[in-house]
Amino acid sequence: MAKEINTIGVLTSGGDAPGMNAAIRAVVREAISKGKKVKGIKRGYAGLLQEEIFDMSTYDVADIIQRGGTILQTARCMEFTTPEGQQKGAEICRKHGIDGIIVIGGDGSFRGAQKLAGLGINTIGVPGTIDLDIACTDYTIGFDTAVNTAMEAIDKVRDTSTSHERCSIIEVMGRGAGFIALWCGISNGAENVLLPEKYDYDEQALVNNIIENRKKGKKHHIIINAEGIGHSTSMAKRIEAATGVETRATILGHMQRGGSPTARDRMQASIMGAYAVDLLCDGKSNRVVGERNGALMDMDIDEALAMTKSVDNYEYQICCNLSK
Ligand code: ADP
Ligand code: F6P
Repeated sequence: MAKEINTIGVLTSGGDAPGMNAAIRAVVREAISKGKKVKGIKRGYAGLLQEEIFDMSTYDVADIIQRGGTILQTARCMEFTTPEGQQKGAEICRKHGIDGIIVIGGDGSFRGAQKLAGLGINTIGVPGTIDLDIACTDYTIGFDTAVNTAMEAIDKVRDTSTSHERCSIIEVMGRGAGFIALWCGISNGAENVLLPEKYDYDEQALVNNIIENRKKGKKHHIIINAEGIGHSTSMAKRIEAATGVETRATILGHMQRGGSPTARDRMQASIMGAYAVDLLCDGKSNRVVGERNGALMDMDIDEALAMTKSVDNYEYQICCNLSK
């Protein structure tokens, strides 16, 4: 028989993402509505190992749904990647009476959750990352806000690029994945989009495209470059030398991770956070919450971590067709 869950721990881990606060709020309030206790764990697995654990009430999550970042703070913790660190983490959970933990983060954080589950602590992962790179789910908390933030910034760069008749290379985040870049490519109407999943490193093709567009009378040339390709500044120098068109690189960086979450992120975070609590209360463990084909779902963490995903071929083709 599944053990009864009385106390639920919650932590955020890896890169922060807008909407994490909405997820924390949902976990706390759903759990309390079911008569459970909640313990907040600060600074991800690092805080777990340091026993930075405190009781959370419904008031602790008041006035946070609209705030970016995470009130629990987040961290990357090397010690927790070791068997000794994981054992210590499980013992600390038991010491604090934590029967189940909800981990809000990305793939790496889910690997940590998987290890805790193996050591007898019930765990549920909630996908929180701006990168959208978690294979088992179509949606990750933070993506919508980040992509809108990047899109607005790129619109602004485009204004000045047009005024100066320049080429602009704009680098967006995404780690090894090109989802943010692809969405900005289409939404900003970029002339070229360089994705780690697709780019063939044919810089001469970019140069030819810029020269052709100049001949056609285009006043700007926007290249969205994904972080997974990087090197935007050196690329800008080479492109300027080869085309004679003034070229600037802008790396959007961490501004993409901040800011008030969009309605979509608040909504997804609230539903996924609450669902994670419901799963724990139903005796489930080693599961990841996600969204597939518009429906809320959950899946075994081992299965989820074995999956891979890539940018959509059709969307990429359309992105190329519309940029001509
Ligand atoms: P994300 O969760 O956004 O993918 P990271 O990959 O940085 O971010 O992982 C966040 C944290 O999760 C790491 O700092 C580490 O503490 C933990 N973690 C990552 N990989 C593992 C692993 N294989 N085993 C246990 N813990 C891990
Ligand atoms: O995973 C989110 C993310 O912002 C990635 O897009 C990026 O590669 C990475 O985190 C940056 O990490 P840091 O905040 O440690 O510089």
